[in-house]
Amino acid sequence: MKLFRSIKELQQTLAADRIAGLTIGFVPTMGALHLGHLSLVERAGRENDRVVVSIFVNPTQFNDPHDLRIYPRTLDADMALLSGCRCDYVFAPSVEEIYPEPDTRKFDFGSLGSVMEGHFRPGHFNGVAQVVSRLFDLVKPGKAYFGLKDFQQYSIIKNMCLILKLPIGIVACDIVREADGLAMSSRNALLTPEHRAVAPQIYSTLQLALKEAGHFAPDVVKRHVADRINSLGLLKIEYFEIVDELTLKTVSSWKRKGTKVGCIAVFAGKVRLIDNIIFAK
Ligand code: PAF
Repeated sequence: MKLFRSIKELQQTLAADRIAGLTIGFVPTMGALHLGHLSLVERAGRENDRVVVSIFVNPTQFNDPHDLRIYPRTLDADMALLSGCRCDYVFAPSVEEIYPEPDTRKFDFGSLGSVMEGHFRPGHFNGVAQVVSRLFDLVKPGKAYFGLKDFQQYSIIKNMCLILKLPIGIVACDIVREADGLAMSSRNALLTPEHRAVAPQIYSTLQLALKEAGHFAPDVVKRHVADRINSLGLLKIEYFEIVDELTLKTVSSWKRKGTKVGCIAVFAGKVRLIDNIIFAK
């Protein structure tokens, strides 16, 4: 496994691989790696000849400077974890390497980008699209791997590839959970022991919503989820939306065609956690 800090060296190596006819799989990350990331890396390893993992805490996608400051940065531990996987190249550039000039591009994802995370974290998806399009342009992967915990991000990236006409297969990978159901996230490391103890209730509440689906209208299920989360004392709901899988538009009836997804954002103290659940068709 080789660590690259510079774009030039990474590109030289990848160009040689491409000439040799090797396929390239890419896993973009912000580091603080956990088993969820490693499952993406393992899948990329099964489906490609070479695997590139980027580790870059992208400042343009943080709408809250405090959040950017406290985001965990653990390169040595990340390298140790990756060395146990089928990862060939780690790309860990500086901010200056990725943004020699400020990136002023504006992406328009329509309603996909303005609901849920887009509403509560203005500018977030524009920053994600800036960095992911830049990384895609540098790495030029055949396939790129994203976890479904960030369901809306996955929709945005697919849409970005359509807008920019990028010939990259976007592979959605299942959420990986802790034994107690909490979705794995780099932010879990920031939870206090009290908040960590109550955080699995997010997933158990989503499962209750799954049981209620069809028996109560979506609006009622949404209210039950919000009330349950807020009643736990240590958690505070930011949103729970039941949306169409493709349009991310709020669903008002279970009878509507298509798969529905329940997306939730919750504050556990100062730490913001997201999760989701797929309602069967
Ligand atoms: O999901 C993430 O970790 C980030 O949003 C990503 C895709 C690596 C872009 O910075």
